[in-house]
Amino acid sequence: MASGNSNLGAAKTAKNDEFYTQYSDIEAEMNAYVEFNPDVFRDKTILLPCDDPEWSNFTKYFAANFDRFGLKKLISTSYAKGAGNKQLSLFEQESPLYDEDLHETHGKLFVLERDVDGDGVVDSDDIEFTGYLEGDGDFRSAEVCALRDEADIIITNPPFSLFHDFISWIVDANKLFIAIGNLNAVKYVEVFPKLRSSEMWLGTTHPKRFRVPDGVSTKDVIVENGISYQTFGNVCWFTNVDHGVRHEPMLLDTMAHNLKFNKKLQKKLKDKFGTVAYPHYANYDALEVPLAPCIPSDYDGVMGVPISFLDRHNPDQFDLLGMSGDLGWATTECTFFRPPSDEVSALCRTRNRTWRVQKVYVNDDDGLPLVPIYDRLFIRRKKAGDDQ
Ligand SMILES: C[S@@+](CC[C@H](N)C(=O)[O-])C[C@H]1O[C@@H](n2cnc3c(N)ncnc32)[C@H](O)[C@@H]1O
Repeated sequence: MASGNSNLGAAKTAKNDEFYTQYSDIEAEMNAYVEFNPDVFRDKTILLPCDDPEWSNFTKYFAANFDRFGLKKLISTSYAKGAGNKQLSLFEQESPLYDEDLHETHGKLFVLERDVDGDGVVDSDDIEFTGYLEGDGDFRSAEVCALRDEADIIITNPPFSLFHDFISWIVDANKLFIAIGNLNAVKYVEVFPKLRSSEMWLGTTHPKRFRVPDGVSTKDVIVENGISYQTFGNVCWFTNVDHGVRHEPMLLDTMAHNLKFNKKLQKKLKDKFGTVAYPHYANYDALEVPLAPCIPSDYDGVMGVPISFLDRHNPDQFDLLGMSGDLGWATTECTFFRPPSDEVSALCRTRNRTWRVQKVYVNDDDGLPLVPIYDRLFIRRKKAGDDQ
């Protein structure tokens, strides 16, 4: 038995997509949307595009809450090549449409929209297997795209190895969505511009434990009551459905108070920069803020904050301006990029081969760049009267 966090990026590279979301994690996240807007799912058609009802807790959750949410229709598709999907579900087996030959190779379509068994409620007992898809159920296929276009909201934990494709697929459709992904995806070209323009944001929770198929054994898999789980430390939700957290302003203290009273901040600054002061970057006209809760309430200029800031980002409180590490943006759009001379750049590259002019850094006492600082988001406090 082992524990610890795996890297979702490693799963992505290994093209291991069989991680199943726990019911409690789905419930915790959906509660945030329903609390903010009790009618968020009312009269909506929801598509779950990587979800076989036999094992997907997304299907189970929305089927169980079909009446409470006032859903119009729930569509779940199952991908033929997924490990879990090979298992024969009762929905499929008991259907007159069941075909042994198609089971292994074709995607499956499941629909919930009416009280089939006449017990007065619409729930998982009423899920209907409505037949095999033409293809394997790939979300990019024309037939699943048509289902996407029919739906109002797309919700799932998509295959990690195809997250780029999945997010483009959703964005192209211009639909509401709630999808699990890797926090590092905030840097994707399909994602960051949407975060910046408030067309996409993070959800409210960070699922950690995912069920993996029986028999999978890696050092990070733990087995509890006969069920195998893998833990990830970098998972979040991406969405364009509104929730309350993004409307709560972060409660912030002044720069002087943070420096005087926040021990964690003091240690961080002392260890990294040798002095307890918020440093200014050498290559961007912006202030380094190493911990998001320590954003000074009395600083009006541009600040660089860790990516975890997005968990608390309220677009009425701060503007998200850009991201360090993006040379294209730094050299074209960014008005506060201050690149060093070619000589300094060349010297820095000799000292550290991973050094890049577009990554934030602070100069040392000799006026030369220190080891670069990790990825930062550039933000600026909104001023009263700002209308964006
Ligand atoms: C990370 S798992 C999550 C499954 C389920 N949504 C859940 O949360 O429990 C992603 C699922 O997508 C399936 N999948 C992989 N490639 C796919 C594709 N191209 N189209 C649709 N589904 C795919 C995998 O078989 C896998 O079951």
